[in-house]
Amino acid sequence: MNEHTLSVRLERVAAHVPAGGRLGDIGSDHAYLPVALMRRGAIVAAVAGEVALTPFQAATRTVRENGLSEHITVRLANGLAAIEAQDAITVVTLCGMGGETIRDILEHGKAILSGEERLILQPNGGEQPLRHWLMENGYRILCEELLRENRFFYEIIVAERSGPVSYSAQELYFGPLLMQARSPLFLAKWQRMQQQKHKTLTSLSLARQAVPREKIQETEQYMRWITDLLT
Ligand SMILES: C[S@@+](CC[C@H](N)C(=O)[O-])C[C@H]1O[C@@H](n2cnc3c(N)ncnc32)[C@H](O)[C@@H]1O
Repeated sequence: MNEHTLSVRLERVAAHVPAGGRLGDIGSDHAYLPVALMRRGAIVAAVAGEVALTPFQAATRTVRENGLSEHITVRLANGLAAIEAQDAITVVTLCGMGGETIRDILEHGKAILSGEERLILQPNGGEQPLRHWLMENGYRILCEELLRENRFFYEIIVAERSGPVSYSAQELYFGPLLMQARSPLFLAKWQRMQQQKHKTLTSLSLARQAVPREKIQETEQYMRWITDLLT
């Protein structure tokens, strides 16, 4: 992967960025996503935010080597603090981090958001707490996508602020739109999860040290939901 050829995962994220947008890519690493989109003329400006020095330097290099320093600002900052009001950001991408990390970044920086931005989120696990945050903060899920690359399943969640929205516990767990569509890939993902949960329950029951009751009950609850989904 580089700024010329994105991974399948980032290519699918790119497909949800509205044409002519102003992108805030938080946790940008090499800034491949904003640079690829600028090179294609798909966006008009971007901010690439990075909290760590080495990826910040890599992002700065990618932007400079592509002659895009006038259009893409790279900032060393924690989460949404990379975004300034004058950037007039219209779309925020948070990709390749755990769902809880993405949720925490959104929660800590929510005062920075105008509420008009489209959020394009690609969590590596932890989708349930992330969807819960979206619901609690009045974001409607407009689109969900599931893809598989190198044996890993990835979800992409596109959301915009809409006012109060309500999702059931199962919708937060499986994804309201993914659950509705029931694609073959979605069923394959949950078949794999069913096997993993089964192993987890077996090891919890064999654990020498006391496992909190709530932990076992929660895993059993998820197992029931998955079984119901697949039957
Ligand atoms: C695995 S990389 C993903 C890079 C790219 N977004 C992608 O999807 O390929 C995650 C990046 O997020 C950055 N990151 C983690 N927490 C962050 C935060 N609070 N603010 C900004 N960047 C963060 C890390 O330094 C790392 O470079």
